[in-house]
Amino acid sequence: MQKNICLSQDLHFFLSSQHQQNSNIMKIDLTHAEPFLDKAVVNSLESRISNVYETVFNKTGAGNDFLGWVNLPSEIDESLLADIEKTAADLRKKSDIFVVIGIGGSYLGARAVIEALQNHFAPLTGEKPLIVYAGHNMSEDYLHDLMAILDKKDYSLAVISKSGTTTEPAIAFRILKQHIINKYGEQEAASRIIAITDKARGALKQLANVKGYKTYIVPDDVGGRFSVLTPVGLLPIAMAGIDIRALVKGAVEMEKQCKACPTLENPVTQYAVVRQALYAQGLTNEIMVNYEPRLVYFSEWWKQLYGESHGKQHKGIFPASVTFSTDLHSMGQYIQDGLRNLFETVISVENSNHELRIPMENEDLDQLNYIAGKRISEVNHKAELGTVLAHEDGGVPNLRIVIPEVSEKVLGELIYFFEMACAVSGYMLDVNPFDQPGVEAYKKNMFALLGKKGFEEQTAALNKRLNL
Ligand code: PA5
Repeated sequence: MQKNICLSQDLHFFLSSQHQQNSNIMKIDLTHAEPFLDKAVVNSLESRISNVYETVFNKTGAGNDFLGWVNLPSEIDESLLADIEKTAADLRKKSDIFVVIGIGGSYLGARAVIEALQNHFAPLTGEKPLIVYAGHNMSEDYLHDLMAILDKKDYSLAVISKSGTTTEPAIAFRILKQHIINKYGEQEAASRIIAITDKARGALKQLANVKGYKTYIVPDDVGGRFSVLTPVGLLPIAMAGIDIRALVKGAVEMEKQCKACPTLENPVTQYAVVRQALYAQGLTNEIMVNYEPRLVYFSEWWKQLYGESHGKQHKGIFPASVTFSTDLHSMGQYIQDGLRNLFETVISVENSNHELRIPMENEDLDQLNYIAGKRISEVNHKAELGTVLAHEDGGVPNLRIVIPEVSEKVLGELIYFFEMACAVSGYMLDVNPFDQPGVEAYKKNMFALLGKKGFEEQTAALNKRLNL
């Protein structure tokens, strides 16, 4: 990769326009990506930006039935928020544990926000309810261990599936439904179960109707991975005692900014253009980097959003993630010095929520007195800066998304930021960012191998292939 490409006046304007961003919360810093960018590639992507935004806002692109998330933050119904808060308050009173049953977009957004905002050692604090997850795997041992805990605790649950037919959460719900009924009896169990699904379609909707569960609707025009600001995310987040109104407020601010300024001054556009340019230049892997372990699931949510939206027609950036310093001692070597096909996007948190300083020791046996008196966050920031510079020297472009703190409002802004950038990047890549046809392949094989009705032909073909 050639470095220090001379930038055109235009590109300099584009890159320096980050100083004019309207956002009073998050900023994007492209200083450590700039030396790697090929101006011709950036210019050609830039020229497409206004068209791409028109495609999103006018709903004229592929998958335009699934653009409900675009206006969602500003259009959330006050009565829906109040209803979710009331349901959460009632269930919190009688739950030591709240089980979120769902997979993919039906649990990752909630988990991203909850894990970012709760105590790192939530299971040990005794605060109630503890949020746990099921239906995102089919491990017999996982469900066994979960039920052994639920035997001894008061709990309630949400079963979340837009289609209402996904196998993993359906199995977990069948098992836990029997468990909760055995524990509390039909009537009380029903008051502890919330179903979040399509308004009419799917087995879960029929089941919820028959059993009389409280139900929230996933809007038709919002796909799973874009649904964190619907009841899919908001109910579990409210159950964790998190302020859902502040979360929505952050998203509303970013929505307003995107609509007021769908141009290069917008951090969304800058992120989308720069990552697409690097991809076009052969950097096919994007690593989401954080220096705060509370953001691990935010990266998981981002990976699903981008992986499932863009990985189509043999195209798309492969989304990966690391948590530093932890992974500097596992993946750091590869990032510094391995195959040069990657770039990093760092979520840089300016302020910790708590202050902790390194103490002075007279003996200085561990030789740390040179940093005595400094805050841990100061050392963390120097590790971050040192790493960015080292990786830049190693040929890894670095985009920095700088946030003042990890809070409800900032997370709301980040959620909308990444959703909009995902749509914009998807259209620049010429794929439909809102479908996921590739996910069906494993399902069909699994159904055939399990002997599901309607899959007989595929069962025979697979048996032959496996010499069964
Ligand atoms: O983003 C998506 O659409 C998917 O990841 C879904 O969320 C996931 O497959 C779960 O689907 P469902 O909510 O229908 O159970």
